[in-house]
Amino acid sequence: MATVQCFIVGADREDGCRRLLAGIAQPVSRATVSVASLSALGGDPRFLQAARPLVLVGDMPAEPVTAAEVVAFAQEQRGHAFTVYVADTIAPDDYKQLVRSGAAEWIQWGSAAQELHDLAARLHGADLVERTARIVSFLPSKGGVGNTTLVVEAASCLAGRLKRGGGRIAVLDLNLQGGTLADILDLEPRFDIGEVMGRPERLDEQLIGVFTSRHSDRLDVFASPARRIGPEEIDPQIVFAFIDSISTRYELILFDLPQHWLSWTDSLIKGSDAVVLTGSTNVPALRKLTGKLAYLKEMGVPENRIATVLNGAEVDLLGRVARRAEIERVLNGQRCLFVRRDGAAVDEAADVGRPLSETAPSSRIGRDVRALADWIEAATGRLAGTEPQAAATGAAA
Ligand SMILES: Nc1ncnc2c1ncn2[C@@H]1O[C@H](COP(=O)(O)OP(=O)(O)OP(=O)(O)O)[C@@H](O)[C@H]1O
Ligand SMILES: [Mg+2]
Repeated sequence: MATVQCFIVGADREDGCRRLLAGIAQPVSRATVSVASLSALGGDPRFLQAARPLVLVGDMPAEPVTAAEVVAFAQEQRGHAFTVYVADTIAPDDYKQLVRSGAAEWIQWGSAAQELHDLAARLHGADLVERTARIVSFLPSKGGVGNTTLVVEAASCLAGRLKRGGGRIAVLDLNLQGGTLADILDLEPRFDIGEVMGRPERLDEQLIGVFTSRHSDRLDVFASPARRIGPEEIDPQIVFAFIDSISTRYELILFDLPQHWLSWTDSLIKGSDAVVLTGSTNVPALRKLTGKLAYLKEMGVPENRIATVLNGAEVDLLGRVARRAEIERVLNGQRCLFVRRDGAAVDEAADVGRPLSETAPSSRIGRDVRALADWIEAATGRLAGTEPQAAATGAAA
């Protein structure tokens, strides 16, 4: 994903400059923060701590911002931020100065969305927007549906498909108060985000190394140790900065999201290339799942970037999913992947601290996980270099 973090500057009086800018920024931005003025932004710790931020400042009749102010800001922030001035007109001299700063551009309101998109593409590979890992968020529709198990299994299956020297995959456990991800792989959890809260300058290469638990030469895990840390103590900007720092190292990063919604879950999802929504097959669980699915769609996540996975499905000897018609009725036609219930295989893998792809590669549940891995490969275009497809139907027939 593009690693752009956008800061929007607008006083937000009646014309809603910020709202317009947020709409323009949305396709290229992972996390967007709004402030009232350039001077406020210059002293904002979120801006100062951001890695290569993009600043969008709009000039509107009700909220005028002069080009001279923008030029001065761009010059001052050169080397840290790239500034985009959105205005209908600009004097030729101001334009020259803006461009000469080497860290700013002017775009017009009428064509702003397209111009910003083109600008982001031009900056691709440069300092501002790097080609980085594809991100897949695993979002549980409720607790205990097997989200963590599926993240681990999908990651290990995908890592097995990487050619030697073809990059690596990471799993990031965002259950920051202590997840179970490390236990499944019998690893020591080392991703202690509390270490850097309030001290973002510590987030360097060395600390990232300390946070890494290596499962294999192709799969790294960032898993959270049990910790007494309240959600309000977690600064999302630090989490985003951490994701930015690791995203140049991997082909693919899978997020294990917690079931409770955090104020920054939306930003993580918007920054993801694909979302795997996990659930289970009983009726209350399906209702929860349809609720979250509707929310994802409202957020504008395209349908072909969402895979709905029903885990722990009961299947008969022929591999047919029990109550399939009823499940599909509750899901209102939503296509989904099924991963069957197989307590023996899952427990055996957990007991030896290894994924199913290693302990039971030819099992039927292993085949279901491979279908999920296929979807991720297609939706992210990573590994096989394919383009996104519509969501596939389940492996369990
Ligand atoms: N397909 C499956 N068949 C049998 N057991 C499973 C399956 N998937 C997961 N489990 C078991 O279900 C339990 C919950 O799984 P897991 O911890 O992955 O869920 P979760 O959604 O991450 O839970 P939490 O809300 O606690 O984070 C575990 O004991 C796991 O071994
Ligand atoms: Mg979990």
